[in-house]
Amino acid sequence: MNTHLLVASLYDALMVPADKLGFEQVRRMVVRNAKGKVLEIGAGTGLNFKHFDGTDCVFATEPDPYMLSHAVARLRDCSALTRAKAEELPFPDDSFDTVVSTLTFCTIGDPLKAAEEIRRVLKPDGCFYFAEHPVAENPMLARAEKIATPIWKQLAGGCHLDRDILSYFKSAGLIVSDIIRLDSFFVAGKAAKSEACAKPGLAA
Ligand SMILES: C[S@@+](CC[C@H](N)C(=O)[O-])C[C@H]1O[C@@H](n2cnc3c(N)ncnc32)[C@H](O)[C@@H]1O
Repeated sequence: MNTHLLVASLYDALMVPADKLGFEQVRRMVVRNAKGKVLEIGAGTGLNFKHFDGTDCVFATEPDPYMLSHAVARLRDCSALTRAKAEELPFPDDSFDTVVSTLTFCTIGDPLKAAEEIRRVLKPDGCFYFAEHPVAENPMLARAEKIATPIWKQLAGGCHLDRDILSYFKSAGLIVSDIIRLDSFFVAGKAAKSEACAKPGLAA
């Protein structure tokens, strides 16, 4: 069975409970911070596209052709969608005011390389906004996530439950700030190349 095709076909339906439990609000909160020339990595089926507001055209990337085929239908006006991995972004250095990622760093093959690429394509005063699900802070929950990950990633398109996602951003030289923890599962926040992105904070 082609699990990527299956995950892409079921993805929107699978996200309904998470979105109803509050992740839709998190998407909106993260995405509405996007300003200027915007890049979204790992756009999936394009669930974030409707939340971009007040931006120039959005450049979205997604490596999975099945996800991409759903996202195309949600593309707005002048926006562009490219098949690309976050580890090899086909854009010049210092080219985006904003980069956005929601729920991608659990799946990306080389998350440190992806964070380094985000740093590379961000303008010196650019901001990276994210909402991700890193490994739990609670040690028992973290242990359960580590045990479950080998099976979970087979079922969920490569998703890891046990990644220390903020550590990749920091290791790539990004300054992480405005962290909001949502339940014990999700984390939203901002990362940047310089203090120039430090204001304003993550808008609610
Ligand atoms: C859980 S889905 C999230 C999709 C979307 N960002 C959202 O919030 O609904 C994870 C996405 O990451 C994508 N992905 C997997 N490997 C990737 C990589 N190396 N670079 C960028 N995206 C990747 C998957 O194809 C999938 O669309």
